[in-house]
Amino acid sequence: MNRCARFANPGVVTQGWYCAGPASRLKGAGPLGVELFGRRLVLFRGEDGLPRALDARCAHLGADLAMGTLDKGRLRCAFHQWTFSGDGRCVACPSAYAGHERARARSWPALERWGALWVWAGRTPLFALPDLPGPAWRLPAQRLRAHPHVVAMNGLDVHHFRAVHGLEFVGEPRLDQPDAYRTRLTLRARVGNGGLLAGFVRALSGGTLEAEFTTVGANLAVIEGRAGKVPVRVLFSHAPHPDGGSVSRTFLIGNVWSRLPAALVMAHILGGDRAVLDRLEFRPGFAPADAALAAFADQAERLPLIDEAVEAADRALSRGSAASEDMGAAGV
Ligand code: FES
Ligand SMILES: [Fe+2]
Repeated sequence: MNRCARFANPGVVTQGWYCAGPASRLKGAGPLGVELFGRRLVLFRGEDGLPRALDARCAHLGADLAMGTLDKGRLRCAFHQWTFSGDGRCVACPSAYAGHERARARSWPALERWGALWVWAGRTPLFALPDLPGPAWRLPAQRLRAHPHVVAMNGLDVHHFRAVHGLEFVGEPRLDQPDAYRTRLTLRARVGNGGLLAGFVRALSGGTLEAEFTTVGANLAVIEGRAGKVPVRVLFSHAPHPDGGSVSRTFLIGNVWSRLPAALVMAHILGGDRAVLDRLEFRPGFAPADAALAAFADQAERLPLIDEAVEAADRALSRGSAASEDMGAAGV
């Protein structure tokens, strides 16, 4: 098998939370246009200050709503001034278009966390973002050539830790799947010799790292662990880049005393991966020793696709407009 139907297939998008960039981009008065999970979206803040996400193509003639203006949390299209609320309803039209207020823009669940914007690629979130309280440092976004699923899988790939990162396991890593959306590896590892960074990490950790690496959906992953006495919490977010490959973002979460060592551990752990991932053309040739990878790919294969959510929403929308037409005919 050279390709899975969903896992690592660049032709489809699995539902999940996708990062739309720093929340500071929504600080100004205007809307923000982004390319995310293969669509053009517009993000803006509602009157309550919370983020909203709509398809950016106006339901009228397809103008880019990111060129519109915001008025009391409602988005007015720049072309003919149809105006949309955060849930996608057209709430006002100029008088020449009276009666067109039934138009809808597709809306997407959106929220703000760790100083970033997140949009669910689907109609209703199937799972929450990981519960990781605390402020976060965001490392600069990276472009990788590998598919987001393949990048997210990297922390489950136990056998590359020794080859690429010089880590020796203490005991066998433990694999489990807490639910249909999470694959978790629990491990203890000794930091080997090899350079200044490894020396820092060894000094910090007393030579042993304890960590749980958990994938969340198919494009997020979390490390929760300890380097010595210091807790380390890291979130990885991988989204498809519009030109292929991934945009990967790393969040170091917790107080400054835990973010600093987390940064060192991450620099040590991630350093070797990029070169390999950028030249990799993925084949799902999992061996029995790759049980964690196969388990993760299997979960990804079962995730619904964004298209399925869009089709279901379209059916509901057309049922809704049929209902309102019926109601109109009945004079309600
Ligand atoms: S294209 Fe948006 S109002 Fe006409
Ligand atoms: Fe790695």
